[in-house]
Amino acid sequence: MPQRLVIGNWKLHLTAAEAVALASAVAEGLGGFEWDPARVGVGIAPSYPFLVPVGQAIGGADARVDLVAQACHPEPQGAFTGAVSVEQLASVGVRRVIVGHSERRRVFGVDDPQVTRTVNRVLGAGLSAVACVGETLAERDSGRAREVVLGQLDAVLEGVKGSALGRLIVAYEPVWAIGTGQVATPAQAGEVHGWIHERLASFDPNGSQVPVLYGGSVKPGNIAELASTPGIDGALVGGASLEAESFLKIVQGVLKAS
Ligand code: 13P
Repeated sequence: MPQRLVIGNWKLHLTAAEAVALASAVAEGLGGFEWDPARVGVGIAPSYPFLVPVGQAIGGADARVDLVAQACHPEPQGAFTGAVSVEQLASVGVRRVIVGHSERRRVFGVDDPQVTRTVNRVLGAGLSAVACVGETLAERDSGRAREVVLGQLDAVLEGVKGSALGRLIVAYEPVWAIGTGQVATPAQAGEVHGWIHERLASFDPNGSQVPVLYGGSVKPGNIAELASTPGIDGALVGGASLEAESFLKIVQGVLKAS
């Protein structure tokens, strides 16, 4: 059975002081209930400038909460103004990097070849990649969800070499469910998670151990149903991760279902 995980993607939100306060509240809150990171891993992804203070707030190198970056550039160094490399992220204690989020694809022009290269670089540096896939509403309505999701997944898998697969996490985030309050039904999400798990298992014998998270309007009120759906191994949470209370409730929901 793949590991269960809950990752908070803070996107472009919070000031430095707010980010540190939220990280501290999450770390403290997790101490308040029976949380075992081996059962449900928890990660938080602040904006780049706050990685260092947030990393310190959650306990530095020994932190039980994973420090996660929202993106990275595939090149290790060079004339790439505004970009951040995986080596730089690793040097400040980042353990996982979100790759190919739909907002990176839509707003910043990240495409499948770049996703392939970035997954390869992140895994090659010994970090874990949280690779995002998901269809738009138009693609779903035209019956192309499977083709789109598996096409994106194939680009992710092209970047995976050998045992690095053990550090891959996939997140299914239907674009129409992100920030809209319109969560995928357990049946809709379960179907797509099934396709993804199937493709991972045919890619490699260890593919069945790759966690597949669901993302898109995950809230305390819908996590129980989602987390108990076969094939859903956890959540990538946007809006509801910006308050410690709702994020912790989602972690508890996944713990209960595991
Ligand atoms: P919301 O939970 O705000 O819908 O965002 C989901 C997401 O994009 C997480 O990466």
